[in-house]
Amino acid sequence: MINIKEEIAKAIAASVNLDEKELVNYIEIPPNSDLGDFAFPCFKLAKELKKAPPIIANEIKENITIDTKILEKIEIQGGYLNFYINKQTLAKEVLTEVDNKKEKYGSVNVGKGKNLVIEYSSPNIAKPFHIGHLRSTVIGGALYKINSFLGYNTIGINYLGDWGLQFGKVMAGLELWKSEYNLEENTIDAILKIYIRFNKEEKENPEMTDLARKAFKKLEDGDEEAKKTWEWLRSLSLENYEKTYNLLNAKFDSYNGEAYYNDKMDPIVEELKQKKLLVESQGAQVVDLEEFGMPPCIVITSAGTTIYATRDITALLDRIKTYNFEKMIYVVGSEQKLHFSQIFKVVELMGYGDYVKRCKHVPFGLVVDKDGEKIGSRKGNSVSLEDILNEAIEKVKNIINEKNPDLEDKDEVARKVGVGAIIFNDLSNSRIKDEIFDWDMLLNFQGETGPYIQYIYVRTKSVLSKAGYVPNIKDVDFSKITEKEAMNIIKLLYSFSDVVIQSAEKNEPSIVSRYLIDLAQSFSNYYNEYHIITDEKTLQDARLYLTYAVGTVLKTGAELLGMEMPERM
Ligand code: ARG
Repeated sequence: MINIKEEIAKAIAASVNLDEKELVNYIEIPPNSDLGDFAFPCFKLAKELKKAPPIIANEIKENITIDTKILEKIEIQGGYLNFYINKQTLAKEVLTEVDNKKEKYGSVNVGKGKNLVIEYSSPNIAKPFHIGHLRSTVIGGALYKINSFLGYNTIGINYLGDWGLQFGKVMAGLELWKSEYNLEENTIDAILKIYIRFNKEEKENPEMTDLARKAFKKLEDGDEEAKKTWEWLRSLSLENYEKTYNLLNAKFDSYNGEAYYNDKMDPIVEELKQKKLLVESQGAQVVDLEEFGMPPCIVITSAGTTIYATRDITALLDRIKTYNFEKMIYVVGSEQKLHFSQIFKVVELMGYGDYVKRCKHVPFGLVVDKDGEKIGSRKGNSVSLEDILNEAIEKVKNIINEKNPDLEDKDEVARKVGVGAIIFNDLSNSRIKDEIFDWDMLLNFQGETGPYIQYIYVRTKSVLSKAGYVPNIKDVDFSKITEKEAMNIIKLLYSFSDVVIQSAEKNEPSIVSRYLIDLAQSFSNYYNEYHIITDEKTLQDARLYLTYAVGTVLKTGAELLGMEMPERM
């Protein structure tokens, strides 16, 4: 497809004798298409050319040679040059590309041959799957798919919290209360209850902590029995998570968690020592980070044990060797910002700054209800993710039973719409903002929601099947696509690949979500304004192809977010 921004930049560059690469970044898309399809703000050049913007605009306009097949006309407005695209050319370019690439439309191979590590989800085993882990799973899952779409060799790592005192708690709890719970039938549930009960009793009876410590120490010392229990707990939890991951379409290439690094930390601690980075502080071994405005990073505690940060430093160094990554992102809540700044700094001080530059903590906000209260915090225990997803599916099923009881594959549709609603709600605003979790809002079929995107997609499908015709690009007369509403769609389709690239660069899936809303709304406007099925065959063919293209891109985009599209609803 032609790159219109580049064409414009090239033409301007030739007329003012400047570098086109710099100019391309200045080109904007006007908020209102009456002001052109692209605009060039001449004040960006005022300093360099030592002239007033309107004068520059005039000079460029006079000198510029444009290919009228690409640009219809240029107008001056204040200090701006407004460019109007040749509609027919653009429609032809876009729709031909859709025809060529189908569901791959929008993909580009910018990541070819590059390894990109995405660490996400990373729940703590034996503890409840916290709603914060839903965000990490959904955001990380989307970034995984978006980057793969751009040709990166993407590696998804679930850095399980599979080591730590929580195992001691569960093990000690099992010893105490095993007989009171139905471990045979609802194992995971029983384990969680035991964990929660242990924490509660611990508050009243601090001796419980000693029990937990002792149990964990056994595990650390390699006690066979304890190891077996640990393995059992780990595989049980994984099996349970897998259900949720499948529903959310989250994929992992590695489940190497904290425990994996247990026997790999010694050489790293040794290296830190050799590089003279460790100092003693109150009995602990720390890396002093005061000169960087951070508290010390504890590597060995005063009790002589390694800690969360020790494992993270080891994991980072291990991943450099294993994956030789171009980029590594950690999708973890913003409350761990300091932790990541510390470990990045330590690894940089160890001499691996080149790799640290490629690492990024990708934080996100909390999940709150519509009154702004943190979800799950009130009762002190967490909301189960599986329950939330099942509730969403159930609610959609009720809506279907009420509105469209004869729908085929009701269960399948309810799953896709229910889960899609949860995913889209998580991704619809910039990730750093708190996510508002409100059932009425996220299931609103008319709102800016997952179900709305799916509904518009299904509508494109039903128009096509009503016409009983498979769209064929050879039948399309591009000059039939002229209306403002149709051009809005064409322009959106044209920008899809840019949108995906931007969303990858900023690690921001919401850029894709907002785009899907725009595309769905612009199709809805078009559909309400014009009849797609008409008596005029050539007009109908062009409109049907446009409809088909919208459906294709809606589906591709939604799948990049981890949603699935129903074919009817
Ligand atoms: N398991 C941790 C938690 O739930 C998240 C792990 C984040 N990743 C990391 N490399 N530290 O809080």
